Amino acid sequence: MSDIEQLVLQATTEFAGIGDAAALEQAKARYLGKSGSVTELLKSLGKLAPEERKSAGAAINSAKEQIEAALIARREGIRYAALEAQLKAEALDITLPGRGLSTSGLHPVTRTLERIEALFRSIGFDVADGPEIEDDFHNFTALNTPENHPARSMHDTFYLENAPGLLLRTHTSPIQVRYMETHKPPIRIIAPGRVYRVDSDATHSPMFHQVEGLWIDEDVSFADLKGVFTDFLRNFFEKPDLRTRFRPSFFPFTEPSAEIDMSCVFCDGNGCRVCSHTGWLEIAGSGMVHPNVLKHVGIDSEKYIGFAFGMGPDRLTMLRYGVNDLRLFFDGDLRFLSQFR
Ligand code: PHE
Repeated sequence: MSDIEQLVLQATTEFAGIGDAAALEQAKARYLGKSGSVTELLKSLGKLAPEERKSAGAAINSAKEQIEAALIARREGIRYAALEAQLKAEALDITLPGRGLSTSGLHPVTRTLERIEALFRSIGFDVADGPEIEDDFHNFTALNTPENHPARSMHDTFYLENAPGLLLRTHTSPIQVRYMETHKPPIRIIAPGRVYRVDSDATHSPMFHQVEGLWIDEDVSFADLKGVFTDFLRNFFEKPDLRTRFRPSFFPFTEPSAEIDMSCVFCDGNGCRVCSHTGWLEIAGSGMVHPNVLKHVGIDSEKYIGFAFGMGPDRLTMLRYGVNDLRLFFDGDLRFLSQFR
């Protein structure tokens, strides 16, 4: 092997072993720089005899080209390796689960309230609202429950300290009283909202919801109450065969009064654990509005008559979704709530 071939081999081997750009440029200088081996060889051409010069020059140039090619290849190699390393370091792990924009959703009881409102709106009822802090008159007295009336004990109440006569409403009936004070019959409303009572266990919460309904006109009858409410339940539970039963009961603000039961939505009335094997579920209180209530709000009880009912949307939600503990609705546990999204 000639010296020149030796030099090419040495240079290409050396370049191949270099992994770093700066070191490669230094190695380049040793061969191709001003006083590099190849440059020295070219300079030495002048000392050769003219007839040798041509072939020696060609050999050196060819060596130079080979060394330059090796250099460029190595530069590319180093650049590529650096890029590889950088990409690896900055790599996105696309197999990681995303941070996730989780969707929000309505609370199950809110869904029930919206459903109830939509169903009653569809038959011409308005939705009325009122304050949660009520006065004694609207929560009790106007509803034919004067002070010291024993029926007041059916509603164990939260009274406000330092605010005599104010309390957290125990039902949404005061919404109806306020509505009747400011509107003339015909009146057709439902009154949804939060209510408060001193009660707490798996089926009672100190805060819960009610939806009450009121229809006052010249010729509203108990049959209308039966029709409207039964139809509502059938639509709400999507059970066209659902049956209702009205049991005599007592409320100070209705006369006659009735407790409404519906055939159990789990066993269709055949008897199961949910309905304590009776086939029936208690679902609402109702009755024909007591004339004293109409008198309190200035409606002529000789001319107008109507029905009212009150139900618990929390319980309706439990029955519709098969939830067995009321407290789950108010714990704010997302594992529970997100199931209703
Ligand atoms: N306001 C009653 C309650 O909370 C429910 C009800 C409303 C009963 C209307 C009859 C008529 O107990």
